[in-house]
Amino acid sequence: MKSILISGIQPTGKLHIGNYFGALKNFVDLQNSGKYQCYFFIADLHALTENPAPKDLNQNILNLTADFLASGLDPKKSVIFQQSRISVHSELMWILNTIAKIPELELMTQFKDKAKQFRQSVNLGLFNYPVLMAADVLLYNTKFVPVGNDQDQHLEITRTLARRFNKIFGKTFVEPKAIHTLTPRVMSLINPEKKMSKSQPESCVFIDDSPEQIKAKIKKAVTDSGSEIKYNRKDKPAISNLLEIYSSLSGKTINDLEKKFKGKNYSVFKNDLIGVVADYFADFRKNKSILIKNKSKLFSILKSGSQKASQRAEKKIIEVKKKIGLA
Ligand code: TYM
Repeated sequence: MKSILISGIQPTGKLHIGNYFGALKNFVDLQNSGKYQCYFFIADLHALTENPAPKDLNQNILNLTADFLASGLDPKKSVIFQQSRISVHSELMWILNTIAKIPELELMTQFKDKAKQFRQSVNLGLFNYPVLMAADVLLYNTKFVPVGNDQDQHLEITRTLARRFNKIFGKTFVEPKAIHTLTPRVMSLINPEKKMSKSQPESCVFIDDSPEQIKAKIKKAVTDSGSEIKYNRKDKPAISNLLEIYSSLSGKTINDLEKKFKGKNYSVFKNDLIGVVADYFADFRKNKSILIKNKSKLFSILKSGSQKASQRAEKKIIEVKKKIGLA
């Protein structure tokens, strides 16, 4: 039996190259390795924590489904589904809420950051966001979860809840492990000390940006003092980030890139990188522009994937309910 692997992405706007090189590209590679039984989903319940306008959310769900397919996820090889179509995700979250502890959730960096940003109006969904994530993962007996490293704390909570539940009610859940890429945290183009984030569009290259947009953003990307193209995360964080991006795109090692750009200045390096980014996503842009026109196909893929996923999830919730005395 192949190990089960699951991951989700929120439909909260365009995907940036951090989402791509930290997660989506890896989803495609892992799917194509043939080693796993793969589940990939649109985390639309999580997206509700940002209180999106209904029309935007609906469009973003379609957009993300098109992103999944245009980058190579294949409904014949992976189960591609929509979280909100499977109500037992919310049901298991409620059950896990009753064993999750407030102080451990208060430690979550992502929650603390949002709480700072929204102060008094921070919603309860943001607080138990990691419990819903735990439900997403534990419902499927998942062994592996490919994510960027900003999700490590959430996966640690998932493992804690699985262990705690198993201890109280008997062995029920598998403890999952994260899978990271070589670029588990792509940094912002305008502040290389911070991760690239959808909430700061000017920090991102989006994967469906046009070549002109890519050019403008990379030209504006901050650089470090000095002029050498040298990898050093501490002293040259901006160029190191751009080198990592270049390396992910080209498959060349950082070492090779340092040699290639020895004696050249930042502007030569950036011009080269602009071309590499624009070329890399050219097929993706073409595929997506076709897919996005076919709404009914996108919805039907989500519908049939959700039916498949729900069969497994329903079984698990029955097992859980028996264990806790509800059935
Ligand atoms: P989301 O949509 O915020 O992020 C999607 C994926 O992109 C990764 N990521 C990055 N990787 C590298 N560098 C960056 N700058 C960067 N920014 C984001 C994230 O780590 C993530 O893998 N909470 C999840 C969605 C989710 C989920 C789950 C994932 C909901 N339930 C269950 C796995 C299992 C999230 O961060 O989505």
